[in-house]
Amino acid sequence: MNGLDDVIAADTALSDVDGQAGTLIIRGHSLDELAAGSTYEAVLALLWEGLFEEAPQSLAFTALLGRARSQAFERLREADVRQVQQEPVEALRVLLAQIDDGERLDTALRLVGAAAVYTAAVLRLRQGLSPIEPDATASHSADLLRMIHGRPATAEQVAALDRYLVTVSDHGLNASTFAARVVASTRAGLASAVIAALSALKGPLHGGAPGPVLDYLDSIGKPATAAAWLQEKLSRGERLMGFGHRIYRVRDPRADSVKGALQTLIRAGQVDAQRLQLAEAVEAAALKLLAEKKPARPLQTNVEFYTALLLEALGFPRDAFTCVFAISRTCGWIAHAREQILGGRLIRPRSRYVGPQLISARSR
Ligand code: SDX
Repeated sequence: MNGLDDVIAADTALSDVDGQAGTLIIRGHSLDELAAGSTYEAVLALLWEGLFEEAPQSLAFTALLGRARSQAFERLREADVRQVQQEPVEALRVLLAQIDDGERLDTALRLVGAAAVYTAAVLRLRQGLSPIEPDATASHSADLLRMIHGRPATAEQVAALDRYLVTVSDHGLNASTFAARVVASTRAGLASAVIAALSALKGPLHGGAPGPVLDYLDSIGKPATAAAWLQEKLSRGERLMGFGHRIYRVRDPRADSVKGALQTLIRAGQVDAQRLQLAEAVEAAALKLLAEKKPARPLQTNVEFYTALLLEALGFPRDAFTCVFAISRTCGWIAHAREQILGGRLIRPRSRYVGPQLISARSR
């Protein structure tokens, strides 16, 4: 099974990932341009442009998302959240499943608002704290940080989270986005498409990678032990989370976009530089060992390596990193689902049967 390597399974006007050049464009805009100054609301408006009958102005999205967060909070029954004792991403999946399905803008906004509100509520309740009511006038990033930490975030933290949410908002036909398109193609609805995508995202080969990056930075502890520790892991045939990519054969351009957000926090004196210095040493050792292990297959740093440090610096617990990824990618999943609804057909590839030939009843 080749994992559909190099198979073009859809046409999209949303984003293009060039694995040889190491570039990502979203609706014709370069990642650098978008990550430098866009808010999450702006990239959501860009991705959703022309995909819904109701065409709100892009400036309206701060208010629309604020209202969606407030509605999600009203529907949040703490009892439901308390009963959900799984990992944050499992809890998020259960809670999103309560959202009525539909293919229109109101369902889309509800899903984006709920992803942020439910993630924050799950993290608060498991600490024995009450969920914090959204501020419908705030930006998505500022409100998410405040709902989780119980205090206003600094301007640098909000900008850093916005840069992350913009950077990972959409990325071609990755596994979770493909799942969203398949489900949307059956006309099951946007909530079903998002839940299917979230289920794909949580896998360690996809969006589940950032948390384990911190685990191995903790195990390594200091730059001097990096090479031996990594060599030991590779010799056991294990993979290094945060490296390698199905499309990128060069450095994932998002790695430096996310790293740049972290460096801004360090320059503002809000994060200690030591963790980054360890990570850079581990990254250098990993790239050297991976090049020796797989000389014919470039295994470069992907988005998840520095994502782990940035989300840790913003105070997210590592078992919630996949939820934060989903908070961003929900807008991309919905954009692809709407593209599929508006212009696609039921996605139904064929398979090659390699099982036993027909066993006639007489021979049994
Ligand atoms: C995301 O597709 C997207 O766009 C996804 C994403 C997005 O924005 O949606 O970019 C987000 O998922 C980023 C990737 C996060 N995952 C990780 O960091 C997990 C670690 N990386 C890998 O498991 C792997 O690199 C994949 C899954 C990301 C890609 O794997 P492929 O393209 O299927 O490559 P492969 O499994 O065929 O591996 C080729 C060889 C293998 O060696 P052999 O078995 O042939 O001897 O390279 C090896 C692999 O073992 N290899 C690694 C490795 N990645 C591949 N070896 C060690 N460490 C790794 N990280």
